[in-house]
Parts: sequence; structure tokens; C-alpha cells
Amino acid sequence: MSSELTLAILTLSIVSVCVWALKSPQRLPYPPGPPPTSFIAGNMSDISTPNVWRKYTEWTKQYGNIIYLRIFGQPIVILNSLEDALELLERRSGYYSSRPVVPMYEIMEFSSVTTLRAYGPEWRTHRKVFQQAFKPDSCMEYRPIQIKKVYDMLNALLQTPERVEAHSRRYAGSIISSVVYGYDIVSDDDPLVELVESTEQAFTVAPLPKWLVNGFPFLRHIPSWFPGAGFKRYALSIRHKWHQQVDVPFKYTITASESLGGSHTPVVLSLLNGYTSEEDNQMLKEALGSAYSAGVGTTASSIVVFLIAMVTYPQICKRAQDDIDRVTGGQRLPDYGDLKSLPYIQAIIREVLRWRPITPLGITHVNDKDDVYNGYYIPKGSIIYSNIWAMSRDPIKYKDPEVFNPDRFLTEAGELNGDEVSFAFGFGRRICPGRHLTVASIWLAAAVILASFDVEQKKDSSGSAIPLGVKFNDEGVVCTPAGLLCSITPRSEKARQIILEGHRDVF
Ligand code: HEM
Repeated sequence: MSSELTLAILTLSIVSVCVWALKSPQRLPYPPGPPPTSFIAGNMSDISTPNVWRKYTEWTKQYGNIIYLRIFGQPIVILNSLEDALELLERRSGYYSSRPVVPMYEIMEFSSVTTLRAYGPEWRTHRKVFQQAFKPDSCMEYRPIQIKKVYDMLNALLQTPERVEAHSRRYAGSIISSVVYGYDIVSDDDPLVELVESTEQAFTVAPLPKWLVNGFPFLRHIPSWFPGAGFKRYALSIRHKWHQQVDVPFKYTITASESLGGSHTPVVLSLLNGYTSEEDNQMLKEALGSAYSAGVGTTASSIVVFLIAMVTYPQICKRAQDDIDRVTGGQRLPDYGDLKSLPYIQAIIREVLRWRPITPLGITHVNDKDDVYNGYYIPKGSIIYSNIWAMSRDPIKYKDPEVFNPDRFLTEAGELNGDEVSFAFGFGRRICPGRHLTVASIWLAAAVILASFDVEQKKDSSGSAIPLGVKFNDEGVVCTPAGLLCSITPRSEKARQIILEGHRDVF
């Protein structure tokens, strides 16, 4: 080889390396963010605060909409604006759709829950189940069940209005268990209700840094009898409950299949033939078990948020009741046939989803490859939070965001303006597959409660208003309200009779 050629190849190689190095994403800066407070734990102390979503929202003033943190070497990216979440989690969803590995979840075997499954073929099978069972057309078929269950809730509210939170839970849970398993939940202490309560609670607290094993994964190998291994005993008890939740109602449906004919074929029976291999059958079970876990607390909490809003904003409650009376003449309860005639109730539901998002930080995504966005380097394996709380507080889109104002979803002509607050249900390929069912359930509950009851602040014997007493869970994945004190009384004797007759007819 001539020396000129050698020199040319060498020069070309050096130039190529330089170009590669200059273009390499790793030369770009990470998104801005607060400096780590500890060399080893990084920003751990920054994130270990209640209502951390509010803190992330505050940080936008200092760092902008995309924020970078590091915890024990784990990169974390917080997306505070809808536009960035849509760009990364939807348009680039081909590689932003996985989930982080959380040791506590692993011990609980929650990695088989649809919500937490890594992106891949098994997750796709789960999603197929959801697509078949909860697509808009399928959900239309479940409306008679929702109507039946709403009468059950109204009847329960007549008897024990102070137990409104439990009644909302039973309404949400019994819709899913009837739709999926053909199983009727008839009491609040039904074993299925108890099981899902434990797994739901575990789902929300397990990823918290307070569990040492999440920071030091090798701890998962210590035996459960070991002193200090309480976390493992807890996680194993939840694992057992999760398996029961997946297996027990499924078996019930198969065993009772002969007697479960009626007007609705449970999802288990209608899908069973398409999932015959052992592996597919297991996927079907897990996906349907996940539907129950993911759908009960979220739906019930949204109904409670609706009640909080009605008590706090009586003029909105009154306007909604007038609207319903105009449509029903006060002679019947509203139902799905009235959906289009009652846009204000739909606007109220959208405002409920915006005002107090149940999952203020969404469910975390993970990117499977290095990426560059807006000139920033986002390393492969970053945990991506979509800060739904910040999106719901966007002051340009939502003026006075802390105020509950359904009118923000209506045009001047009183029609819905097209903003469906879909960010409340997450993004891209992982968007909530239960959203059509839940919006219909919440709408119906809101419409019939407003038609039948006055929902007001409770008064003590001297007539003074009693505070609502409600507290929102301020840590973990879900931000659910609890402890609501309010007065729920029938609007009239006629309203009471409509409930009792309707209840008698459907049961
Ligand atoms: C108000 C009620 C609800 C809210 C606010 C809500 C919100 C969410 C959010 C934010 C996500 C994460 C999406 C993402 O990763 O970007 C999600 C996922 C999910 N939701 Fe919902 N949800 C609700 C009701 C339901 C219901 C009723 C069901 C079941 C019938 C359900 C089933 C699921 C499942 C299975 C996932 C995981 C999807 C996946 O990882 O592929 N959700 N939901």
C-alpha cells in the first residue's frame, strides 16, 4: 500500500471517529435538574417528599419542562408538559414503552400484572385481551350491567349514605367482576374485594424508596425468616394474594359456566377459546386479574372526587341537577340514552379527571435505547415520569387550574370542546385500556346521584358546617381520597321511590 493511501485512510478514520464522537448522543447534556444531594444516593432526598408531583411541577420554573434526576445511578426523566409526553411516549412509543424493574414488585410477582409487564410479546398478549374485552364497542354491551350496579349503589346510599366510599368501591368492583367473571359482588366484605384491596395498596407503595431492597436489589435474596426481612414477608404475602386474585374468580367462572348464560357472557368465557395453550391461558388469567386491580380503586376514587367537587361547589351541583331535571322531568333517572343531552355532566367528569388526577405521575415508562430530544441526551433505561399533575395545571390551557370549573370543557354554545383530558389515562402504547369503561361508569354514577340526591356539606347539631375531612394519599403511585364526610339525602320522596322501584326491577 502506498504511503499516500495509508495517510488518506488514517485521515479518513480520524475524521470519522471525530464526527461520530461529536454526533454521539453521550456528548450532549442531560436535561437540566437539581444537583444531586448525595454522591451515592443522588437526588434521593429530593424525591422522598409527600406530594412529590407538586414539587416537580414547581421545579419547571427553575429547570424547564424536562427534568433530569439520578438516584443510585438510575437516570430519571420527568416530563412536565403534554407536548413532550406526546412526543416521547406516543410518537416514539416504539422504544419508550417498557416498565422499570422494581425489586419489591419482582418479589410480589407483580411483573405478571399487565400494568407492570415489560414491553414484549407477553405484554402484547395482555393488551390483546384488553383490546378484545374493553374496546368501545365491547363496552357498549356492558351498559345494562352498569345500570344494574348503579341501582345497587343508589339503594345502598339510601340505607347508609355515610358509607359512600365503600359503595363507590363496590359499584366499581362489581361492574368489572360481573363483566369479566359473571361474578356478582353483593357485599362489601366479599373475599374478592378484600383481596384486591391488599394488592392495590401494595401496588401503590411497593415502588417507594422506603423499601431498602429497591435501592439494594441483592437484599431480595435474604430468607424471609431473617431478622429485618419484614419487607420480604410482606411481599410474599402479597404474592400469594395476587395469585389468588388471578386464579380464584377465573376458576369460579369456568366451574359455574353452565349457569352463567343470561344476557351477558362473561369475558372469561367469550375469550377462553382463543387462549387455549397453557401459556396463553395464563396470560388471559393475568390480564383479567389486572383489569380488576387497575380498575376498582381508580374508578371509585374518581366518584369520590366528583362528590368532593359537588360539596365544595354547590352552584355547580345545582346547575347540573337543573340540567338533568330538564331532560328527565324529574320522573326517571338519567341513563346512557341521555349522554348527548347532558354535556354539562360530561364536562364535570372531565374536570374531575383534571382537577384531582388519580395517578398524578402516571405509571412510569422506560426507554429501551439511547435517545436525543431537544438537544438533550436521554440514556437508555431511564425511568420516565409523565407528570400528569403538571399537565393538569398548565395555566395556558387551564386558567385558574386549582378551581373546579367544568365550563372549561364547553364551547360558548354549551357543547363539549373536544378536550377529553386523555392525558389522565397515560400515553402511547401503554395508555389505559380501561378508559372507555371507566368514563362510562363514572358518568352514570354522577348523573344518577345528582338526579336523586342532594350532596352537601354535613352540619353539626348547632348548624355549623363540618369540614369534609377528606385526605388524599400523598405518596406512591395513586393519589386517592379517603375519609369524606358529607350529607347525601334524597332530593324528594319521588326520587326515593324511583330508586326503590328501579332497584326492585333490576334485581
Ligand atoms: C379513572 C379511572 C382510571 C384512571 C385515571 C386510569 C389511569 C391509568 C394510567 C395513567 C395508566 C398508565 C398509562 C401509561 O403507562 O402511560 C393506566 C394503565 C392501565 N389501566 Fe387504567 N385508569 C383508570 C381505570 C382503569 C380501569 C377501569 C381499568 C380496567 C378495566 C384499567 C386498566 C389499566 C391497565 C391494565 C393499565 C396498564 C396498561 C399497560 O401497561 O399496557 N384502568 N391507567
